[in-house]
Amino acid sequence: MKKITMAVLLILGSACLAHAGTTAGDGQKEITNVTRLAFGKLDDGREVELFTLANSQGMKVSVSTLGAAVTSLWVPDRGGKLADVVLGYDSLDGYLRDNSYFGAIVGRYGNRIGKGRFRLDGREYRLSLNDGENHLHGGRAGFNRALWLAKPLANASGPALELTLVSPDGDQGYPGTVKLTVTYTLTEKNELRIDYEGTTDKATILNPTHHSYFNLSGDFGSTILDHLLRIDADAFTPVDKGLIPTGKLVPVAGTPMDFRKPTAIGARINVPCEQLALGKGYDHNWVLNRFDGKVRDVAELYDPRSGRRMTVATDQPGLQFYSGNFLDGRAEGKGTAFQYRTGLCLETQIFPDSPNQPSFPSATLRPGKVYRQTTIYRFTAE
Ligand code: GLA
Repeated sequence: MKKITMAVLLILGSACLAHAGTTAGDGQKEITNVTRLAFGKLDDGREVELFTLANSQGMKVSVSTLGAAVTSLWVPDRGGKLADVVLGYDSLDGYLRDNSYFGAIVGRYGNRIGKGRFRLDGREYRLSLNDGENHLHGGRAGFNRALWLAKPLANASGPALELTLVSPDGDQGYPGTVKLTVTYTLTEKNELRIDYEGTTDKATILNPTHHSYFNLSGDFGSTILDHLLRIDADAFTPVDKGLIPTGKLVPVAGTPMDFRKPTAIGARINVPCEQLALGKGYDHNWVLNRFDGKVRDVAELYDPRSGRRMTVATDQPGLQFYSGNFLDGRAEGKGTAFQYRTGLCLETQIFPDSPNQPSFPSATLRPGKVYRQTTIYRFTAE
């Protein structure tokens, strides 16, 4: 915990307050609740920065310009006590060596593409392979490895950070120059809101997502198995041994994948079940109900110990629930070596491998069109 306290002191002691000019009429106001500090340097000398947004409820989120990664997220419990509820490293070095995508924006394609191949408009594209024979989370040098350009904003609902990235034509094998803007807003309603906007100059595929590992207890020495999870989904997409969807949508009813009612994550995680064996636990995409392109509540995570509740709202068709099955104590930070299942991800997305599954929602983006996603992680306590 020592290092965290030091980082906080550093923010208070030496941070410069970010100020942007006031722009009348568009809901912008003076920015007073965003701090920025140097986080370190990349090998090529480029500076990485750490921005912290704070709302008047006491919530705080820190975001690194490397990978647009959320490095900490302070949330009140039922007694108003704040705790950091996301796994993360203490310094830039941890993020440079990270293999778990802690807190990052992943892309271009969040999740897997089978054999790293897809066809678009009659041409086959081959992507970088970084997960056995498959492509995962944008490949070897995905968006999580990129240095994003940051600009603090104050919008009507709270302090915000706009991060922009240009991914060149051919990046990791993907066609087209893609420009992606991700805006994190910490609202006064205790929401971490993430808005994505992407464009391309050639037909391509785009499916970015956010990869925070949550442990709502704030006690990273404990697992997430006692958290209650609800996912508003009647079906999921079963996978093969490479975690590539088979293409089927299978009803969750009568299976351990049924989270239509709040259920402890650990209640069924070890029952004999082919899909749980393939995923080494939960590592699947749920087919979210009520998909019509509008933002709706899709999932809820509750920690009975602290009373913290997180509601996930999104306009996306799918949700990857990953129960931290690959965490093995090698990643360290925040005074802990992060062990098996001490954090979980709820990644809003288009289904995995959709470019190879004609019946799945399409991730194709064409010139002149705009990719958009809004996902909100809303925090309450009871
Ligand atoms: C995702 C995947 C998992 C794993 C993690 C990163 O959520 O679905 O299988 O690769 O990222 O470790």
